[in-house]
This record gives sequence, C-alpha cells and structure tokens, in this order.
Amino acid sequence: MHGNPFLDGLRIEPAPGAAALVIFGASGDLTRRKLLPAIYKLTTAHRLPPRLSIIGVAKTPMDDESFRQQLGDSLREFAEADSADAVAQSLAANLYYLEGDLEDATLYERLKARLTEVAPGAGVLFYLAIPPSIGPAVIGRLDAAGLTTEADAAQWRRLIVEKPFGSDLASAKHLNKVLHEHFTEPQIFRIDHYLGKETVQNLLVFRFGNGMFEPIWNRRYIDHVQITAAETVGVEQRAGYYDSAGALRDMVQNHLMQLLTLIAMEPPVAFTADSVRDRKMDALLSVQPVIDSSSGSGLENVVRAQYAAGWVDGREVAGYRDEPGVLGTSTTETFVALRLALDSWRWAGVPFYVRTGKHLPKRVTEIAIQFKRPPLHIFRQVSATPVAPNLLIINVQPDEGMSLRFEAKLPGTRMQIAPVMMNFRYGAAFGGEVPEAYETLLLDALIGDSTLFARHDFVEASWALISPIHDAWRAQKADTIPTYESGEWGPPEARALIRRDGYRWRTL
Ligand code: BG6
Repeated sequence: MHGNPFLDGLRIEPAPGAAALVIFGASGDLTRRKLLPAIYKLTTAHRLPPRLSIIGVAKTPMDDESFRQQLGDSLREFAEADSADAVAQSLAANLYYLEGDLEDATLYERLKARLTEVAPGAGVLFYLAIPPSIGPAVIGRLDAAGLTTEADAAQWRRLIVEKPFGSDLASAKHLNKVLHEHFTEPQIFRIDHYLGKETVQNLLVFRFGNGMFEPIWNRRYIDHVQITAAETVGVEQRAGYYDSAGALRDMVQNHLMQLLTLIAMEPPVAFTADSVRDRKMDALLSVQPVIDSSSGSGLENVVRAQYAAGWVDGREVAGYRDEPGVLGTSTTETFVALRLALDSWRWAGVPFYVRTGKHLPKRVTEIAIQFKRPPLHIFRQVSATPVAPNLLIINVQPDEGMSLRFEAKLPGTRMQIAPVMMNFRYGAAFGGEVPEAYETLLLDALIGDSTLFARHDFVEASWALISPIHDAWRAQKADTIPTYESGEWGPPEARALIRRDGYRWRTL
C-alpha cells in the first residue's frame, strides 16, 4: 500500500476529497527545500486531491503574491521546475499566505475564515514546521478556535509534527500530553523522514514479502548488525538547534532507532499502522538500557566525539568549535557510536552496533547484517584463513539498493575461493527517480495512513533509552570531549568499542 513509485497504478488508497494543507512556519527552510517541492512532484504525478489549497502561516511579512513568488523560487532551486509550467501555475493559484504571530489568538480566527473561504467542507492537514517550543501554543490555539473539530468524515483534521520531538523523556511526554489533550492519536503524524525513504520502506517488503529470509533472521544465523549513518556535512547554519542537541539526540533517538526496530521487529499480522507499529514497539522494548539506572554504569558501550578541523570532499573544513554560532567551549558530540543488546528470543546475544557522525569521509547510510560463518572450514587446504562470513548490506542511501556477499570459487584449475557481491540497485532494477521521503509522508498524512509515522509510545520508549545516556554524560561534567579529524571515521575509541567484541566497523 505504500508508495512504490514504480508501481504507481497498483497503489490502493482512498481518494482524498477536497483538502487543505496549513503550514505553520511557511517562510522557513523546510517549506522551501522540502514541502513545496514535494507538493509539486506529487501534483505532477497526479497523486494529490484535485482540490488542494495550501495556506502558509508565519510571522514573516508576506502576502499571497510574495508567497507564490517563494514557491517559484523553491521549485526552481529544489525541484528543477520552471515556475511557468502548468503544474506550478495551478499550485500557485491555490497558494495563500497568512501573516501573524503564532501566539496571537486572532490569527486563528483569520485562519478559520480563510479556510472557510478557500476550502469549504475540506479535510485539513496542519503542518507544524516550527520550533518545538511554540508547538504547544499553536496546538492549544487551534483547538480554542474550533479548528480541530471534525464535523464529518470529509472534514477530517490531522496534524503533522516535525522533529525534534522533545529533547528528553520528560519533554517528549509533555508534548504527547499536550497533543492528546487536543487531538486523538490517529490524527497525529509525528514525522521521522527516514521512514519515508524508499529503502527503509523496502525493509518491510524485503523481510515480510519474501519467505526465504525470515527463517534465518535470528540469533542462530546472524552474528551481529552494524548500522551506520555517515554524513560529510558539518553543522552548517543549524548551530542554534544542533549545539543543544548533538548526534545522539539528533540522529540516534529517532532515525537510527527506527532503522534498528525495522530490522529487529517480529512479523506483523497485517500491513496496518497499528500492527506494524506494535511489533516495532516490542523490538524497541527489548533493547536493554545502556545505562544501569542503579549504578549509573554502562558508558563503556557508548562513544562520543566532536569533529576537529580537517579535510572533507577535498575541502579544508573548520573544527566544530570554530563553526558559526558554536561556543568555543562546546562539548556537543557530532559523532556517536553505541553497542546495543536486545533481550528477545530472536536476538539474545547478537550485538547491534550503531554509529553516526558529521564530517565523516563519505555520505552513506547502510545496515550491514553479518551472518555466522559456516560451522566447518572444509577449504582449509586452499585457504588458511576462514572464509568471509556472509553479509547482507542494505544501502539506505545514497546508492539505494542491497548487496549480498558470499564465497565463490575463483575460475581456474586450482581450488581457490574469494568473496563476491550480488547487487540489487533501485535505479538499475526499476529505472525512474526514487521519490523524496517528504512526498511519501505528505501523501500518507493526507490519506490518513500513519504506518510510516512515529507513535507516541515509540517516541517515549526511545527517549527512555537515550535520555539516561545524555544524563550520564552531563553528570561527568567534562569540559572536554574526544575529537576526530574531519574526514576520518570518528575517534579511535569507536574502533576500540567494536574491537572489544572481536569485530571491526565496515570500511565504507
Ligand atoms: C535530520 C538531522 O533529521 O537528518 C540532520 O537533524 C541530518 O542533522 C539529517 O543531517 C540527515 O538526513 P538525511 O536524509 O540527509 O540522511
């Protein structure tokens, strides 16, 4: 049911009737870079309701005309589209802008009037593309203005909440509480854009649409799992947010825990939002606390570090503390590596290693499942070293696909063996363009399918795992943090973490 762009005609979905999308924070980066281009692409592919009105709301002084101008600029820059083409023109005709202070109750009255005028009787999707600190105020004001009431099935009301979803367990719980005071859980769509990535959705198809992998997907056959999300970019212009977040909270709590649970989950009984999310939740609950709550120990399973100056992509780059907006004394981590243990029948004894960082040598996100070696090395006479273990690599990005490593006989009269790769690449197999995560997620929210969104309990359970690590770091009161040269694969401590168990990080 989820968007495989290559099988467009097969996607079965309720046709959304008239709808309106209200974007709070419409003058921001997310709208320009992701949302407007995603709407354009969906319109081009005829995937949106025929009548979709878009109302941008923000403090920045703008009117309908200048917002339409912004649409044109955004499409030119991020969708390689000409603002004069027919789709862009029709989008512009349905684009409106409401200027105002998000804390001001009268703004919501004006919004209500605008909605009645441009999208009478329509379903409304509210999109919170705003700093999390203002989220609760907006949610409360929407309700107070009667904007959250669903008069009938056609006039549904839904809310997309962007990350970060809280900054620790307490704030995430508070945010969930506020949300649940005004919306029901099925109305709430918490975005984790990793779930919209084609390769991430394919994990479900790969695991549960095939019969041959499931029997070996467990502790008897799998030796360990490595999940890597490496970025070449640094903090860029986001120091304001990132310096108070760091890699653990920015990437691990959400994206990497989502990937981990998709690998670790039991088969759901159906491909429905709750069935899939129930099984992911079980997997998450099986992850053992990294930090022991009574002794505070456990930090030996976590490595953090910050990038120092170096070279990335042939460019000399500054160290994190010299980035604009970052304090010279910052101890925020830009790299983190963890060893996680899952206590379940399927995974007991199989370590999951997770690492992510900025200013690493290569942009690559992959999951590597390493299988156990054959029990007997019968080729001892021709190869002194044991055969390489089988390896399944799920390449999330940028080169979307999968590879399976197995041993093969080298051609020739002598018996020699060597590992080979069998590759599946999305581009080569299906052609066409892989859609952006935001296209899939926006469409899913418009049709009311929350399978690819984070449920309240998942977000909290993930914070329950991550917050104590952060607390333990804070308790150390360290005014220094290990560093790694930009362009290196993190600090030596990360290599030591995995070496302790006799493994090495994959060379990517
Ligand atoms: C965001 C993080 O959620 O994900 C960023 O805030 C990070 O720091 C980004 O760069 C990575 O996303 P992607 O899709 O480029 O892997």
